[in-house]
Amino acid sequence: MRVLGIETSCDDTGVALYDSDIGLIAHKLASQLDTHAPYGGIVPELAARDHIRLLMPLVKSVLDESGPLLVDGVAYTRGPGLAGALLVGASFGRALAFSWGVPAVGLHHMEGHLLSPMLEENRPTFPFLALLVSGGHSMLVDVEKIGCYRLLGSTRDDSVGEAFDKTAKLLGLGYPGGPAIANVAKQGDPKRFQFPRPMINQPGFDFSFSGLKTHVRNIVQKMDLNEQDIADIAWAFQDAAVDTLVIKCIRAIEATKHNCLVIAGGVGANIELRTRLGELAELNGFRLYYPRSEFCTDNGAMIAYAGWQRLSGGQSDSNSFSVRPRWLITDLKPVE
Ligand code: KG4
Ligand code: ZN
Repeated sequence: MRVLGIETSCDDTGVALYDSDIGLIAHKLASQLDTHAPYGGIVPELAARDHIRLLMPLVKSVLDESGPLLVDGVAYTRGPGLAGALLVGASFGRALAFSWGVPAVGLHHMEGHLLSPMLEENRPTFPFLALLVSGGHSMLVDVEKIGCYRLLGSTRDDSVGEAFDKTAKLLGLGYPGGPAIANVAKQGDPKRFQFPRPMINQPGFDFSFSGLKTHVRNIVQKMDLNEQDIADIAWAFQDAAVDTLVIKCIRAIEATKHNCLVIAGGVGANIELRTRLGELAELNGFRLYYPRSEFCTDNGAMIAYAGWQRLSGGQSDSNSFSVRPRWLITDLKPVE
């Protein structure tokens, strides 16, 4: 089965073609960074307009690259995300499927992230524990199989990606903040600052990152920042954010007795997070999986893959479709 995946939930337009026998055939991504950069954050209306502009050429380019192949189904991101942006992908994807006479399915963006390590040769097997860390979410999920998700913990305020982005803004590092912070942190002095690890002394698996961001703001306000200060603060912030995630992961591994951990979502591209969890995986005897960096951040390949799973399980939408800007991952139907 060959599925076209369309991702338009936020500020990246992603399109991909996945074949259940061959694997990923083609994938393309168009970033909207230049559109939003002058505003210092994502402007929803501009995101939707950019998706309209970018989607058609991107689909054409994926289909041109794939050669004369028939598509058996279309998957698009139904939610969560920006309503206008989601509507572009949903209406385009649904219309394409209608014109081709094939089924279409609307997907949960975070399920796409959760299954993204399956795009790699070395894949996790069910059941497993998943750390989903993106710009909009921070979650620890107990995964029994596709669609059977138990939420162990989530953020009580900012997501970890948001904390990276806001901290980068305070340091004058631009958007997206995650890669910018990770990059300057390489020059940081590990001994200069020690930032708090939020909520690690409380039981359970919830996160809170807004206090960490406020801690940075309080420090920054008292300083006239030079390049070394920025690097030192970036290092301390990344250290605290990563440490907090790692501590909760290990706690969840111990509680659930899972021997397999998946990291996915934009922050999953963070090398420090991967390295520290990798060391602990070896030490504690669990397996660690994550997709290549370009499939950690938003992309069409994860939607094409998850779409194949749901379409081949017999799930598809009627011609009338809807988007779900807010949508809990625990509300999804299992794939039987
Ligand atoms: O999954 P994603 O592309 O979009 C959402 O679904 O939100 O995640 C974007 C988030 C941003 O907050 C960005 O700063 C963060 O992922 N991010 C990173 C890194 N690369 C992207 N955070 C830390 N380290 C990175 N290398
Ligand atoms: Zn995402």
